[in-house]
Amino acid sequence: MHLHANIEKTGLLGHPVGHSKSPEMLNAAYQKEELPFIYLAFDVKPDHLGQAVKGLRALGFRGWNVTIPHKVTIMEHLDQLDESARAIGAVNTVINKGEYLLGTNTDGQGYLQSLVSETGIHLIQQRVVILGAGGAARAVGYALAQAGVQHITVINRTEGRAKQLASHLSHWIPATWVSTDRMEEAIREATLLVQTTSVGMHPDVEACPVHPIFLHEDLLVSDLVYHPRKTRLLKEAQKRGAKIHGGLGMLVHQGALAYQHWTGKEAPIKIMRQTLENSL
Ligand code: ATR
Repeated sequence: MHLHANIEKTGLLGHPVGHSKSPEMLNAAYQKEELPFIYLAFDVKPDHLGQAVKGLRALGFRGWNVTIPHKVTIMEHLDQLDESARAIGAVNTVINKGEYLLGTNTDGQGYLQSLVSETGIHLIQQRVVILGAGGAARAVGYALAQAGVQHITVINRTEGRAKQLASHLSHWIPATWVSTDRMEEAIREATLLVQTTSVGMHPDVEACPVHPIFLHEDLLVSDLVYHPRKTRLLKEAQKRGAKIHGGLGMLVHQGALAYQHWTGKEAPIKIMRQTLENSL
């Protein structure tokens, strides 16, 4: 990479950002395509978010990603939000359009691209169960609803949040929620199970958010938790003849979509995935 005054600047705002794989992944992509772009991570405390955005605007950043804890609060510092950001209620990508800053959300679309390209699933035939009702569930639920799946059932430890997400998704498709004690029944009737909770994340990697006997061979189990190896849930699913889909692809594709917004070019998916796998 040649560092010069005209280099196009992109990056990440989060707190903390030390563990983020995005700088490696995006810089590898820029280098592969020989684009004069750079990606830098900035640790910004919540109180300083507004100042940081002003700074990036003044410095002429082409765009940046936004991660925890700024995905919602960033919205008040932007000039426009697109449909995905408004519907999901969070921004993970900002695009500097020159005159104005546009917020979008590539998490849902990134998830769909990963799911479809890695499994060949036909979305419109799916009866979906989503476990969890946080930010990740909102992004994935919105994308699946836009894609026109048959039905979505939301299940979450805190029932109020499940109810809220189901009611939001029912703007687009039939969506309901059920309590966790009806998980078995819901999963029995489902064709796609999407696990969006943090259960199974490091360090508690042996935790399984679903009783393994609920899993069956007509199911595609998709776990947003990413590991170098399979999560316990995915291992149990595979044992019972279900198809499986891991969380790494979503990370790759949400980054690839941001890359495309900033550069106007197709992202080199393969090198991005490889870089991510090597860094885990
Ligand atoms: P994210 O943006 O990654 O989705 P989040 O908004 O904090 O993060 O949501 C975390 C999700 O994981 C929530 O659905 C949460 O359930 P609650 O709404 O009841 O908090 C779920 N979750 C986290 N730890 C869990 C656990 N030990 N058991 C069940 N669900 C859990």
